[in-house]
Amino acid sequence: MDFFVIDGGRPLRGAVRISGSKNAALPNLISTLMTDDACTIHHVPELRDIRTTVRLLETMGKKVSYARGTAVVEHGSRLKTRAPYDLVKQMRASVLVAGPVLARFGKARVSLPGGCTIGMRPIDIHLEAFKKLGARVSTEHGDVVLDCERLEPGTVRFRFPSVGATENLMMAAAGVKGTTVLKNAAREPEIEDLGTFLTRMGARVDGAGTDTVTIEGTSRLHGAEHSVIADRVETGTFLLAALATKGDVRLIGAKAQHLTALLEAVKRSGATVTELPEGLRVKAKDRPKPVDIHTEPHPGFPTDLQAPWMAYMTLARGKSKVRESVFENRVMHAAELGRMGARIRTGGERAVVEGVPELFGAPIMASDIRAGAALVVAALAAKGQTVIQRVYHIDRGYEKLEKKLRALGAQIRRAH
Ligand code: EPZ
Repeated sequence: MDFFVIDGGRPLRGAVRISGSKNAALPNLISTLMTDDACTIHHVPELRDIRTTVRLLETMGKKVSYARGTAVVEHGSRLKTRAPYDLVKQMRASVLVAGPVLARFGKARVSLPGGCTIGMRPIDIHLEAFKKLGARVSTEHGDVVLDCERLEPGTVRFRFPSVGATENLMMAAAGVKGTTVLKNAAREPEIEDLGTFLTRMGARVDGAGTDTVTIEGTSRLHGAEHSVIADRVETGTFLLAALATKGDVRLIGAKAQHLTALLEAVKRSGATVTELPEGLRVKAKDRPKPVDIHTEPHPGFPTDLQAPWMAYMTLARGKSKVRESVFENRVMHAAELGRMGARIRTGGERAVVEGVPELFGAPIMASDIRAGAALVVAALAAKGQTVIQRVYHIDRGYEKLEKKLRALGAQIRRAH
């Protein structure tokens, strides 16, 4: 299995081009199940979760060609309405096929994703909403089975602004003739991007990116071309790596408006952030001031950047607090950071980080994508050599990570 060897302690300097957003590309690709026409999606990052999505689409009957960041999805054979367990267990976002397939064929069968390292992650909010639009829901042999004569448009109020449930219901509603209103919807930029793509496919989506999304659906969605937004989590990860190493980095293609909560926290930590016509520039000369954060649905501080933020705060001049309020078990990286000399106390969803002047290299292990990214940030800043095992987690979400970091002056190599 691959691992990273990082010789830390070098400031990152230069420019890095931000890739397309994984979490926007996934639902966009899955939306292509709603038409037999060809769809072309650009700025699709080359990473493991995208390859899993391509396999999922192919398994369901689509023909997909994917090269140099562009995916062309075409009619292949008669579409299947089932997402099998071997793909769902690799990538939970596979449950997003339920909405498009249910709207189009009146039935869908999706393996129930189990819990994962960051939490239980049930899909009850998705299922309640499908019921509201007239679907029957049952479980059989570990699968969720959805069926209906015809999905009906309607109004759904989510009990929590779940990103996945909002996307699943937007796609379903886009394929149903009539007006559906989603209230207390998730407001993440990836939702807005999906709204744009569905509109290009022939639905009319208003309010994506606000807490009320109105979808005027049609049973005749057609092919479309789209370019995925820049990845705000990749942006945040490079940004924090630049600051933790007291570097100076330009993030080309980054969008400040997608990262307001992070940028505010970064400024309070004493680092410099400048908006440029082509993106963002971040710079730090000194150890950060301690800043408390708690994660929330967008536009709050993103849960996906909590771990890299904690890595940055391990080097602060003082004590800071982190509270993870989106997932119930997302502070596993604290123990690994501790192996590098970080001083972190955890209790449930909370962590108190006592900043130290420096971290030192150690053998450590990634437990999920963003925990892995946090370890990379820490290792780049640490004195000496760090070996990170289980980089397959990191490969799910970061395109050409070691190549991009090397171009910024990092000493990182992949070995197996
Ligand atoms: C999306 O996951 C992202 N994944 C996650 O990114 C991200 O961490 C998360 O949104 C929050 O921003 C993709 O976009 C593919 P949720 P999702 O439904 O849709 C609970 C990464 O590292 N919940 O908003 O699964 C759930 O358990 C990944 O790139 C229910 O209780 O997130 C969690 O505690 C990890 N019932 C909270 O809501 C439900 O039916 C947020 O989940 C659905 C969710």
